Amino acid sequence: MQKVYIELTSKCGLSCDFCPSASRVLSDMDIELFTKINTEIKAFTNDVAYHVVGDPLIVDNLKEYLDISHSVGLNVHITTAGYYLKPSHSDVLNHPVIKQINFSLNSYRGNKLPISLDEYLGKIAEFTLAFRKNNTKSFINYRLWNKEEDNSQQDYNTQVIQTMFEKLGAEIPSDMDMQSKKLRVISKVLFNYDNLFEWPSLQADFVGDKGHCHGLSSQMAILSTGNVIEELCKHCSYRQKFN
Ligand SMILES: C[S@@+](CC[C@H](N)C(=O)[O-])C[C@H]1O[C@@H](n2cnc3c(N)ncnc32)[C@H](O)[C@@H]1O
Ligand code: SF4
Repeated sequence: MQKVYIELTSKCGLSCDFCPSASRVLSDMDIELFTKINTEIKAFTNDVAYHVVGDPLIVDNLKEYLDISHSVGLNVHITTAGYYLKPSHSDVLNHPVIKQINFSLNSYRGNKLPISLDEYLGKIAEFTLAFRKNNTKSFINYRLWNKEEDNSQQDYNTQVIQTMFEKLGAEIPSDMDMQSKKLRVISKVLFNYDNLFEWPSLQADFVGDKGHCHGLSSQMAILSTGNVIEELCKHCSYRQKFN
């Protein structure tokens, strides 16, 4: 499998207007269960992400989880809104197990936060520069997964891009291509753009019967309660494949 999602916690402390996390009961993953899952999934994948919903930076003992994934030889992908970033994270995340850290920069736009956009981005820029000094291996991605048909995200994205280039002491390329999916800021620090999507749900409108399901073939997700996310497609033979 390309990647397994193991949700450390369902808590994220935010309520982005594009994400259904608020409907989840709050829980953290038990360390023993996490150890068991890490050990077992190593046979299927090399890469784990520490979220489904929830935010791994809200977890106080993040290093303990990182050490466990490292001990079984996995690579870890951290995805965070960055709102709960603390100065200590530049040390905690400078861990050999970390392959990449994704900051979801659309989070500010999806909430009514009591800080300015400049303060929010400032903390992430500060982290990036401190981290980059000590770590030349792991990638940092600034996600803007917010493209909509009417391009209503454009002004926000322009402001975010300008602010981050300025704070990181880099120059915006004059030939910047907003159709491209990536934009390099400094070494191993990139913007990553994508579309806003609708979360799958049995309550959502029927979308069609053509397509391919990647569930349990290229990826799978385990919630902080230990439950595996079951596929929405009625043809899935998940229960026969995994007990
Ligand atoms: C559910 S969040 C969990 C991790 C963490 N709380 C965060 O926000 O980065 C994982 C990723 O999904 C993205 N996301 C959530 N809802 C989305 C949507 N409707 N369309 C596009 N991306 C979405 C978030 O921006 C984030 O990058
Ligand atoms: S996108 Fe992340 S931070 Fe925003 S509500 Fe969902 S889980 Fe929380």
